Amino acid sequence: MDFKKNPGTQFKDIDDLDQGEAAEEAAALREGISYHDHLYYVKDSPKISDAQYDRLLKRLEELEDAYPKLKTDDSPTQRVGAEPVSKLEKVEHRAPLLSLQATLENEDVKHFLDRVRDKADSRSVQLMLEPKFDGLSVEVIYHDGKFEQGSTRGNGRVGEDISHNLKTIRTLPLSLKESDHLPGSLAVRGEIYMPLDGFTELNKKRVERGQEPFANPRNAAAGLMRQYESRNVAGKPLAIFFYEILSADGDIPDSHRRVLEQLRDWGLRTAPLNETATNLEDIGKYHAKLAERRDSLDYEIDGIVIKVDDYQLRDSLGARDRNPRWALAWKFEPREETTLVEDIVVQVGRTGILTPVALLQPVDVGGVTVSRATLHNESEARRKDIRIGDRVKVIRAGDVIPEIAERIKRPGKKRGDRFQMPGKCPVCGAGVTREGAYHICSAGLSCPAQLRGRIQHYASREAMDIDHLGEDAADQLVQRGLVENLADLYQLKESDLESLEGYAEKSAAKLHEAIQGASRVRLDRFLYALGIARVGRRVARQLAEAFGSLKALMNADREQLEDISGIGAEIAGAAADFLADPGNRRILQRLRRAGLQIEDMPAHRKQPLKGKTFVFSGALDGFTRDEARERVEALGGSATSSISGETDYLVVGDNPGSKRDDAEEQGVECIDEEEFRKLLGA
Ligand code: IVH
Repeated sequence: MDFKKNPGTQFKDIDDLDQGEAAEEAAALREGISYHDHLYYVKDSPKISDAQYDRLLKRLEELEDAYPKLKTDDSPTQRVGAEPVSKLEKVEHRAPLLSLQATLENEDVKHFLDRVRDKADSRSVQLMLEPKFDGLSVEVIYHDGKFEQGSTRGNGRVGEDISHNLKTIRTLPLSLKESDHLPGSLAVRGEIYMPLDGFTELNKKRVERGQEPFANPRNAAAGLMRQYESRNVAGKPLAIFFYEILSADGDIPDSHRRVLEQLRDWGLRTAPLNETATNLEDIGKYHAKLAERRDSLDYEIDGIVIKVDDYQLRDSLGARDRNPRWALAWKFEPREETTLVEDIVVQVGRTGILTPVALLQPVDVGGVTVSRATLHNESEARRKDIRIGDRVKVIRAGDVIPEIAERIKRPGKKRGDRFQMPGKCPVCGAGVTREGAYHICSAGLSCPAQLRGRIQHYASREAMDIDHLGEDAADQLVQRGLVENLADLYQLKESDLESLEGYAEKSAAKLHEAIQGASRVRLDRFLYALGIARVGRRVARQLAEAFGSLKALMNADREQLEDISGIGAEIAGAAADFLADPGNRRILQRLRRAGLQIEDMPAHRKQPLKGKTFVFSGALDGFTRDEARERVEALGGSATSSISGETDYLVVGDNPGSKRDDAEEQGVECIDEEEFRKLLGA
C-alpha cells in the first residue's frame, strides 16, 4: 500500500480487515497524508485533488474509530484544520477556532441532546438552530470598533492573515456601529461564501478567458481569499455571515440568541434563517425545512448547526478533541456521487456552438436523478480528461446544473480514447470552425439543430411568446422540412400542423392561431427573438433604444453600433455581421411580408429609474418576475437576483424568502407591490 504513488487505491471493507492489516494500512495512510501535506503546504504543488486527500483522511479516521488503539497523538486526524502556508503572514487566533462534530444520523442528534440535557440538570434546554454554511471560516478582529485584522482558520490555533482581501468584501463592515457595549477589542468568527449566481458568472468568465473554473463556490471563495494581491479579489462576488464571538474585552451577552442580536446591532451580518428550539421534534423540522429550501437559497449550505443557547451551560459542557460538546452539525445527504460515463455526445445549440455532454449511468445526487452533465467545450473536457468508461464524481450545487467534478483515477485500469471534438457538425455534417474556446458548426440556419434551437428561442416567452411551440413541435417542423427558416413559420397551414405526430385537429388549430397571433412585436423583443449570437435581452434593448427602428438599425454600420455605450466591439461585430448577411436580410424581409409588424421604440423614453437597482422577493400579484424586471429596465433601472451594496430597493411580495432579512440588515429599503407600482408611475 503506497498512498504517495497511488492515492486512489481502493479500500477493503473495514469489517474484512484484522487488526494487523488495519494497523498496516493506517501507517501507510499517515505516511501518504503527510507526504501530500508537504506537497500542498510547503511546496505549494499538490499532486492530488482535495477530494482525494479528504478520502484518505476519512479512511484513516474510520480505521482509528474502528480500532481506537491505532489513534496516535501525532496522527493527521488530530489536527483541527490544515497547517497554514508560509507565504501569507501567520496569525495566532485570539481563541482557538474549534471545529464541529458532524453527523448524518438522526440518532446522533438524539444522543447529543440527551447529553446536553444531562448536564443541564433540571433546567430546560434552549437551542439555537443555524444553517451550516459551506464556505470558509474566518476570524475577524475589531479594535475600538474599527476593522483591525482577519485571518483564515488554518490549523485552528494559527491561521493566515487575509486582512487585505477581507477588506474588499462589502458585507464586512470596516467600522462597527456605535453602541454602549462596544468592546475595545473584539474577535468574531464568521463564514466567507460566494453567492451561487456570482459563482456561475465568475466561472463562465474564467472559462471564456481560458482559465480553469473553480470546482465549487467554496473553493472559489477559499482560492480568492488566499490571494496575495487584493486587486484580484476586489469586486468578486463574496459575502460573509457572522456566527460567534471568539473573544471580547468587556461583557458580552450570556446567551447565543442575544449574542446574535448584539452582532446585528454592531452591524455584523448574521444568518437570516436562525431559529430557536427546545426539543428533537423542532430540530427535525428545521433540518427538513432547510433541506427543502437548500436549492432555492443563493448560497451553499450543507446541513444545520445545533447550538446550546446558554453560555454558562456551554462552559460546563466544554470540548473534546477540538470539538465543543455544545454544538453539533447535522449534515444533509451529500450532493456528491460517483457514477459511470456511458457515452460522450456532442450537441449543437441554436448559435451553432458544439457542446460535449457526458451521458451518465443515472444516479441520485441529493434527491435529483442525474443522467447527463455538460463538459462545456473541448478544452474543459480535455482538462478534466473525461473518457467513455470512466468513473466520475458528480456534484450539484444549489439549483445549478450538475457538473462532473473530476474523474476517479483507477490505476492499472485500461481507459477509452481521449475525447476529441468532431471535425464536422454531428447533426448536419458541415465544417466546424473555432472561436476561442468554442467549436462552431459553420452551416448556420441550414443546420437542423441550429434551426430547431432558433425556432424554439424565437417562440420563447421572453421573445415572441408563441404558446404551444416547444422543443417537440420545433423538432418535427424541421425534420419534416416544413420550416427552413423563421419566416416559414408564418406560411404554415393548419393542415401542415395536423400532419405532425401527436397533433390532432384541435391542437394544430391552437398552434396555428398562436403563430399567426404573434404578429406584432416591439423592436427590442424582436431583436432578441432573432437569436443573434451574443445579443441577449439587455443588448437587444440597448440596440433598440439607440436606433429606435429596425430600418435605422439595418442602415447602421459597425462603428455606429460600437458607439453605443455598454456594447463592446465583439458584440457590435456579431450584430453587424448578422444584419449585413444577405440571407438574414432576406428572412427579415419575408417576415415583414408575412405580416409581422415590428414596432418602433417609443422615442425619447423617460428614464426615471436610471441608476436604481431592484431585487425581488416573493410573488407579486400583478407581474411575473420577468415582467417586473422588464418594467424596471424600460425605465432605465436594473434588477439583480441578490441583495448587495448596490441594491436600492427590495420589492417584497407574498412569501418573501431570506432576502428580506438581508435587506433589513443591510439597510436596503423594502417596498411592497403598491409602492413599486408608484415608482413605475403606473
Ligand atoms: S460555529 C465549533 N456555526 O463549519 C463552533 N460553524 O467545523 C464554532 N460553519 O469550520 C463554529 N456554518 O466554518 C458554526 N452556523 C455555523 C456554521 C459553522 C458553517 C463551519 C465552520 C467550521 C465548520 C465545521
